[in-house]
Amino acid sequence: MKEFIEGMPKAELHVHLEGTLEPEHIFALAQRNSIELEYSTPEEVVAAYDFHDLPSFLKIYYAAMNVLREEVDFYELACQYFEKAAADNVVYCEPFFDPQAHTSRGVDFKTIITGIRRAQEDAAKNLGVESNLIMCFLRDMSAESAMEHLEMCLPYREWIIGVGLDSDEKDNPPSKFEAVFARAREEGFRLTMHCDVNQKDIHEHIRECLDLIKVDRIDHGVNSLEDESLIRDIVDRGLGLTVCPVSNRFVVQSLTSEEIRTMLNKGMKATVNSDDPAYFRAYMNDNFIELAEEGNFSRDEIVQLSRNAFEIAWLPADRRQAYINELERYSQSAG
Ligand code: ADE
Ligand code: ZN
Repeated sequence: MKEFIEGMPKAELHVHLEGTLEPEHIFALAQRNSIELEYSTPEEVVAAYDFHDLPSFLKIYYAAMNVLREEVDFYELACQYFEKAAADNVVYCEPFFDPQAHTSRGVDFKTIITGIRRAQEDAAKNLGVESNLIMCFLRDMSAESAMEHLEMCLPYREWIIGVGLDSDEKDNPPSKFEAVFARAREEGFRLTMHCDVNQKDIHEHIRECLDLIKVDRIDHGVNSLEDESLIRDIVDRGLGLTVCPVSNRFVVQSLTSEEIRTMLNKGMKATVNSDDPAYFRAYMNDNFIELAEEGNFSRDEIVQLSRNAFEIAWLPADRRQAYINELERYSQSAG
């Protein structure tokens, strides 16, 4: 199974580029940008990764990204993710970035996006990894700030496929951003939002995503399984869910393998993703392999999870079909 997973073509639809910042890179950037760190070795940084819920994770995540300052820093960050993706046979991805986490520190939007874009172009050319970028708004910042950033990104409209919503979910419901997402829809962006695991008011948040925001997919969304009407609407609308097994383990002490199997059985388009792999110490193959082990997943289930990702990806029909054909060829030929 491990070998089968490693060789399988995959799409990753839920990965925060800032969540791919490796401890060694934090040190290299701190030195180049003359920034003092609280830690003296990358090992000490990893030892301080003590996450048990979303706020405890976000605190460390935002502190570390202070080392990202210049265009080349964002370029290197994204290049390193694409190299990991290529090594894991991720052939297509839709990574998130969090511009407000950088503009709030005085970094220009242009610096961030041109660095990431250059890495995307190089990855497509040199690694054969195709990607489309998703811009996330930080839900613990104001709706006004989100709207400003939506307007800020319009000169780069062609470089961004969709918008998302992440960061601290507590008391920051989708409805807070109704006008921002309505405007994003008018501008032609695809829409997604985090509905993180076991958050306060989570069922209401998922309901608002469906009926108020009318999202094109949901990030996480595992708690939808606790409400029959949410399940029915997600299935009827063919909405995808970007589930992150190893990330979930920090919150619920399991890879949510039973929940993922239930989603497959109910016809919900669940997918496997890494979320913040440098922090959770698990990239795509690790997520698939550990999930298969915990849930004793069959090859058919693993292939279905990968097929779902291509099916819900924001790709034109011909590209989607080409990837699905590649996956089918692989699953039929693998011994
Ligand atoms: N930002 C980065 N990772 C996140 C996650 N898993 N949930 C919410 N916001 C995030
Ligand atoms: Zn996430």
